[in-house]
Amino acid sequence: MWRHRRPAGRTSLWACLSPLGVVSARIVSMVDGSQIDRSVDPEAPVWGIWERTLRIPHLGTIGSIRHPHGTSAGLDPAMSSHDEPSLGSLPVMDRFGDAWHGPALPGILRESYARSSGLMRTARGDLVVLRNADLDVLRTHPAVGHQTWEALYGSPTGSSDWPGLHMFFGASTFNLRAPEHRPAKQTLGHVMSPRAMASLTAHADAAVRENVAPALEAEVVDFPRRVADAIAATFWSKVLDAPVASVAPLVRDAQRMMKFFAKRPTAELWATADAASARFMTALVEIIDRAAISGRAPLVTDFDDHFAAHVRSERWANPHQLLGAGLFDGFTALSSMLTLCVVALLESGSRPVDLYEHESFGRDGFLEISRLHSPVPMITRQALHDFKYAGVTVAEGTNIHLLWIFGNRDPSVFDDPHAFRLERDQRSRQFSFGGGSYICAGRNLVRMVCEVFLGYLAANRVQLDQAGEVEWDADSKHGVAHLPVHLEQG
Ligand code: HEM
Repeated sequence: MWRHRRPAGRTSLWACLSPLGVVSARIVSMVDGSQIDRSVDPEAPVWGIWERTLRIPHLGTIGSIRHPHGTSAGLDPAMSSHDEPSLGSLPVMDRFGDAWHGPALPGILRESYARSSGLMRTARGDLVVLRNADLDVLRTHPAVGHQTWEALYGSPTGSSDWPGLHMFFGASTFNLRAPEHRPAKQTLGHVMSPRAMASLTAHADAAVRENVAPALEAEVVDFPRRVADAIAATFWSKVLDAPVASVAPLVRDAQRMMKFFAKRPTAELWATADAASARFMTALVEIIDRAAISGRAPLVTDFDDHFAAHVRSERWANPHQLLGAGLFDGFTALSSMLTLCVVALLESGSRPVDLYEHESFGRDGFLEISRLHSPVPMITRQALHDFKYAGVTVAEGTNIHLLWIFGNRDPSVFDDPHAFRLERDQRSRQFSFGGGSYICAGRNLVRMVCEVFLGYLAANRVQLDQAGEVEWDADSKHGVAHLPVHLEQG
C-alpha cells in the first residue's frame, strides 16, 4: 500500500534537488541594470531565488503567438494582434511554487495543461516551458544557455562573503558558457561515458550488494538514509579508492549544500550550505588528489589525462576542483534516484516480483522510473540574447524554466502519462537529463548504478513493502526524505 505524508510541522518550502541540475534566478548584472530590481516585493508571493530579483518589464514583448507544433501558446484570446502584449499576457503558472510530488503531482499537471496549451510565465515574469514539444525545441536552442554566475549567485543578506559556496560554484561547469564550457564539460562527459561506466559496473554491483543484503535482514529500513545514501558512499569509496568513512560525510554535506536552493533563503540556511560546501569541496579534492598520486582510481587518471590534453582554462587552480564539483550530483542525485526507483515500484500498481519477469526490467525500468520521477524535475536556463520563439520575443537575460517532469508526463506524447509502463513508444521524448550541449554529464553513471540496483532486486526477487508513510522532502521539488520499507528476498 502506498501512503504519502507531508512532513509534520514544516512549511511548504521547496528548492531544487540539484545545484547542478536546477539553477535559479538572481539576475544582477547581465542585463540593463535599470530594468532590474533586487528587492523582493512584499506583496508578491515569495517563490525564492527563482524569481526574487526579477520584474516583468525587462522580459520584452510578445507578438501573436503561433506554436511551432500547431498549438496556441496560451495568449489571452481577447488580445488583438495589433496590440503589443507583454509577456505578462501569458497565463500564470500558479502551481510553480508547489512541490511537485506525491499524489498531488498528476492534479498539478492536469490543472496547468488545462490553463495553457503552450508557454506560461511565473507571477514575476519568467518564462515557463511545460509542453513536451516546446521543451524539445528549447532544450537545444542556441539562444538558451546556462545562467551566468551573477544570475545564479546572490545572498539573502546582500553579502557575497560565502567562501564555501564560491569554492563549489566557482569550480562547477554549470555557470560556464561557450567557449569555456565545452572542453570542461567534455572532460566530465569523457570520464562518465558509457564505456567508462562499463568499467565501474563491478563497483556498483558490490556497493548495491553490500548495502541491500543487510537491509534484507532488517525488519524495516528507512530506504533513503540507510540504503540509498550508503550505496552512493560505498560506490564512490570504491571508485575513488578511499575509505567509506571518509566518503560518507560527503553524501551528508552534499545534501546540506542543497540549502542554497531553499525557497526562502535565509542567512542561516546559506551558512549551513556554505560550511557544507567548503567541507565537501576540500575533502573531495583531497580524496581525488590522493587517488591521482596512488594511481589506483582509473576515473581520476583518465580525468587528469583528458584535462591536460583538452582544457586550456586557468579557472581551476587545481583541475580536481572541476572533477569534485562535477561529481557533486553523484553524492546527491544518485542517492535520490535510487530512492525514487523504490517509490516508482511501490506506486506501479504491480507487485515488483511480477515486474521482474519483464525481459529487460533493469533497462526499461530505469527509463520509466526516470520519466516519472526525476530528482531534477526542472532546470532554469537563461536567454543568452534576444530571440523569438513561437512569436514570443524573449529578451536577453530572461530566466527560462524548463519543466522536464511536466514534459515527461505530457498527455499529448505519452498515453496514460502517470502510469508506470515498462513498454512505451516515445522514449526519445523524455527529457529528465536535459539536452543539447548542457545535457547532464552524469546520466550514464546514474543509469548504470540504478540498472545494477534494479538488476539486483530482480535477480534476488526482492519483495518491497512500504512499512510507514513516505515523507517527501519539504525543501526539494521532487525528493524523498524518509521512506520506511520492508525488503524480503523471494
Ligand atoms: C537521476 C539523476 C540525475 C538527473 C535527473 C540529472 C539531471 C541533470 C540535468 C537536467 C542537468 C541540466 C541539463 C540541461 O541543462 O540540459 C544536469 C546537468 C549536470 N549533471 Fe546531472 N543529473 C543526474 C545525476 C547526475 C550525476 C550522478 C552526476 C555526476 C556524477 C551529474 C552531473 C551533472 C553535471 C556536471 C551537469 C552540468 C553539465 C554542464 O555543465 O553542461 N548529474 N543534470
